[in-house]
Amino acid sequence: MIIIGFESSCDETGVALVCTERGLLAHALHSQIAMHQEYGGVVPELASRDHIRRVLPLTREVLKEAGIGMEQIGAVAYTAGPGLAGALLVGASVAQSFAWARRLPAIPIHHLEGHLLSPLLATPRPEFPFVALLVSGGHTQIMRVGGVGDYELLGETLDDAAGEAFDKSAKLLGLGYPGGPALSRLAQEGDAGRYDLPRPMLHSRDLDFSFSGLKTAVLTRLRSIEKESGRLDDRQRADLAAATENAIVDVLAAKAIKAIKQTGLKRLVVAGGVGANRHLRAQLVGAAAKLRCEVFFPPLDLCTDNGAMIAFAAAMRVNAGLVNLDSAHHAFTVRPRWDLEDICGPVAASA
Ligand code: KG4
Ligand code: ZN
Repeated sequence: MIIIGFESSCDETGVALVCTERGLLAHALHSQIAMHQEYGGVVPELASRDHIRRVLPLTREVLKEAGIGMEQIGAVAYTAGPGLAGALLVGASVAQSFAWARRLPAIPIHHLEGHLLSPLLATPRPEFPFVALLVSGGHTQIMRVGGVGDYELLGETLDDAAGEAFDKSAKLLGLGYPGGPALSRLAQEGDAGRYDLPRPMLHSRDLDFSFSGLKTAVLTRLRSIEKESGRLDDRQRADLAAATENAIVDVLAAKAIKAIKQTGLKRLVVAGGVGANRHLRAQLVGAAAKLRCEVFFPPLDLCTDNGAMIAFAAAMRVNAGLVNLDSAHHAFTVRPRWDLEDICGPVAASA
């Protein structure tokens, strides 16, 4: 069965086609980064309007790329939450209209489940069960994944997400939005040892995180440098970026490794936008190798938000028998706030 998937939870419009037997057929993405850049962050109303403009051209693009007609599509998937309410509604209403018009089942997908299963789009593909480190702009969680729809939360951030820590620190350093990739690029030129920053909750016994104090530490350090030597020069900026990246990555890696030890599992999967961070990737691979643990990442272009992971999560649910494909009910709601553990087990089509 071919499933078309729509993602519109934040600032990326994604559409993709996934076949339940053959995998990803085509995906297309439009990022709104350039549009939001001048505001220093996502403007929800602009995001919703742009999703409306992009979603149909992207749909035509994937159909053309895969060389298939609309009549070959067997189900429609969309991100139902969590995310920005107005933005979610665009993907949800397009998907539901598509499904209604063609009498197809519609499958609401949890955005984080999309991220969580996206490493299975790569080769080699991890087998269940595994530990997942989910690091996006809004979430930082460690989960035990027993199978599709079998997710146990082991730890999470008590305040800011790791992506937020990257973004907010980058903003303090005068880097653009989104800050993660920009800070990470600058960090490559810096000396991470020059400035000492805290590693919040590094030694706590649980698997939780706290990143809100880190941005305050970056700000305090920034102010003290400025007091001593006036405006930050390029060298100091790069060194502070490197120190920030190191502090975030050290905590993420330490907790992920602790989860491996605690669960005794031998597979670690990293997902979400921050999973694109090269330093995090290298540190996790190195630390996991010592435990004879394999580490899996999504393909680099599928780390941040995209439609492929949504269509793919729907395909995994269909293959696992977790979707009622006979439901013809097309009323829908989106869930801007939605815990991943709420979707353990079956989720009805068109919930
Ligand atoms: O998963 P995602 O695309 O969106 C959410 O669902 O939130 O993640 C976006 C987050 C942003 O905070 C962005 O700064 C961060 O991922 N990010 C990175 C990198 N690429 C994206 N953070 C650090 N290093 C990167 N290379
Ligand atoms: Zn995301």
